[in-house]
Amino acid sequence: MRGVERLNHPGYSMKILPCLTAMLLCFTVLVRAETAELAIASRQQELMHLLLADCGSCHGMTLKGGLGPSLLQADLAGKPDELLFITIRDGRGGTPMPPWRDFLTDDEIRWMVDVLRDEKWNK
Ligand code: HEC
Repeated sequence: MRGVERLNHPGYSMKILPCLTAMLLCFTVLVRAETAELAIASRQQELMHLLLADCGSCHGMTLKGGLGPSLLQADLAGKPDELLFITIRDGRGGTPMPPWRDFLTDDEIRWMVDVLRDEKWNK
């Protein structure tokens, strides 16, 4: 009986409402993050091809460097993610490094930076 009384108490629902709202918000954020990941998963092969063929045409087929500098993990070690992200998105004016923002979404660029950072990739 006690439990039922508590449930009917108006104060109870007032407390649970913000909690439910917070849960719903959390859920929405999670689903959105997952959707972005799924979108990238389905483009992963294309992105890897772009990385090796297009980026590779300047950075070397194994990304060890060519016209553009090496993109190997060790050589990017001291450089912040943000710098790499902005370089890929906007290119570098006055150098042959072109902007990729018309071809890649921000999430895809971030994914690429992660791939370049990934140790297994270079071995
Ligand atoms: C037309 C040639 C060319 C292509 C294609 C190209 N790059 Fe570059 N990239 C360069 C050059 C040249 C630089 C060096 C710019 C400079 O002097 O600062 C550079 C710089 C960079 C840097 C910064 C490296 C550092 O050490 O600061 C990153 C990261 C990078 N490129 C990633 C990419 C990625 C990813 C792609 C493919 C999506 C790509 N590049 C395609 C020529 C190219």
